[in-house]
Amino acid sequence: MRLTSVLFLSDVFLTLHLCRTYLLFMKKLSFNFVKTILGINNVFTRHISTKSLKIDKVLVVSKLSRYEYEKRKYKDENVTKFLDDLKRRGADIEKLVYHYDLHKKYEERIVKTLKSRGLDVKVVDRYNYTEEDVNNCDVIIPIGGDGTFLLAASLVNNNQKPVIGFNSDPNRSEGYLCLPKKYSTNIHAAVDKLQAGSFTWLLRNRIRTTMLTSDECLNPTFLHDSELGLNTVKLSEGDKRLPFLALNEVFIGETLSARVSHLRMRLNGSTENTNLKCSGICVSTGTGSTSWHLSINRQPVQNVAELLRLVDIDPTEGKDSLATVLADIYNKNLIFPPDDKKMAYTIRELISAAVWPDPKGIKNRGFAYKLELRSNCYDAALVMDGGISFPFNDGATALLEIKPEDALRTVIFKD
Ligand SMILES: *[C@@H]1O[C@H](CO)[C@@H](O)[C@H](O)[C@H]1NC(C)=O
Ligand SMILES: *[C@@H]1O[C@H](CO)[C@@H](O)[C@H](O)[C@H]1NC(C)=O
Ligand SMILES: *[C@@H]1O[C@H](CO)[C@@H](O)[C@H](O)[C@H]1NC(C)=O
Ligand SMILES: *[C@@H]1O[C@H](CO)[C@@H](O)[C@H](O)[C@H]1NC(C)=O
Repeated sequence: MRLTSVLFLSDVFLTLHLCRTYLLFMKKLSFNFVKTILGINNVFTRHISTKSLKIDKVLVVSKLSRYEYEKRKYKDENVTKFLDDLKRRGADIEKLVYHYDLHKKYEERIVKTLKSRGLDVKVVDRYNYTEEDVNNCDVIIPIGGDGTFLLAASLVNNNQKPVIGFNSDPNRSEGYLCLPKKYSTNIHAAVDKLQAGSFTWLLRNRIRTTMLTSDECLNPTFLHDSELGLNTVKLSEGDKRLPFLALNEVFIGETLSARVSHLRMRLNGSTENTNLKCSGICVSTGTGSTSWHLSINRQPVQNVAELLRLVDIDPTEGKDSLATVLADIYNKNLIFPPDDKKMAYTIRELISAAVWPDPKGIKNRGFAYKLELRSNCYDAALVMDGGISFPFNDGATALLEIKPEDALRTVIFKD
């Protein structure tokens, strides 16, 4: 009897303690979270712009809407056939056309606004965007969502050319990489701020990939149907760097998700190997930590509630419950600043049985400033930002690292 009540009391204390910790933490967190997402944690170490940004020549990178994408596939057919086929596949055509129109009108408005200010504007899309366009402009403005931003960034290979995104559908898309939503409807204000220099540079670190194997040529696949002017990537003798930098993440693993990925990993320049079997490894930047990295590692409220029940707390899973709040804190903690020099690796579904992993002790998830991965896979790929895929089969070895000169230059507004 006494034991039960002691246990009961300790539960109460534990619960109270957790609640207090949680309240204190939430106060701190809501503030820190906003700062982390915007990457203004180390604002004082950053370059505060003191002069205006030269934006005479603007390159607008246009979003490819699903409607346009589908229509393009039917280029030799008539419109009736195209629409019939879409209907047969269960697509909501009205909705597709609505979003296409919404985006196009928005883009036209921005282009008109930029031109009305005397700027020289060129528009490209994913089919005709080239490196030459990057070299010939002062600033790149993707108009769409984060997908369009990633496309625009994919051809920028230095930390000098600014990429500044406008979210064309802020009601529907998050647009973490774009300017804050309020500037979507106030383009003049945004351009004024840029021209007046009232902003702070944010250098988003990216992942550089160097192939350590002897291949001379690699054939990338562009998963979003663009070509970016490249069918084959020739690696030079001395420097086998891939010509793309990953802003969000590099994923390495079997292309068929049901097949086990067999990989060898070395952390932080060590020559010690860990052999592992898993469903691939995702290596994320701070920018990517709000993206796939978060989806892979996010703890559902259900898991947290089950853990609490194990320590005899019987929580609900409702909106304001302890389980929900703890899950929220855990998940927000997975996010780290875009200009962090570390990468976060996650081993997906690590097989932990018999001799695997070899040796034991590797953490499923951790940070690294350098990561070497060797494939022991059958039909695997190294995929950058979910958009560009390189073959990565048995023996292929890649070194992933972050270099300041590879960062992507973006801006944050001070308010
Ligand atoms: C367009 O395609 C539809 C469906 O395949 C076909 O019935 C129709 O004859 C075509 N019209 C023309 C003008 O080719
Ligand atoms: C590239 O694509 C855009 C958008 O589809 C189009 O407006 C533009 O004319 C194209 N530019 C060139 C040079 O083909
Ligand atoms: C977005 O939402 C706001 C507020 O609900 C609404 O006024 C606006 O028309 C919406 N915009 C679009 C493009 O749907
Ligand atoms: C690797 O380096 C990162 C970043 O400095 C550090 O956080 C991590 O603990 C290191 N991991 C190992 C296993 O050395």
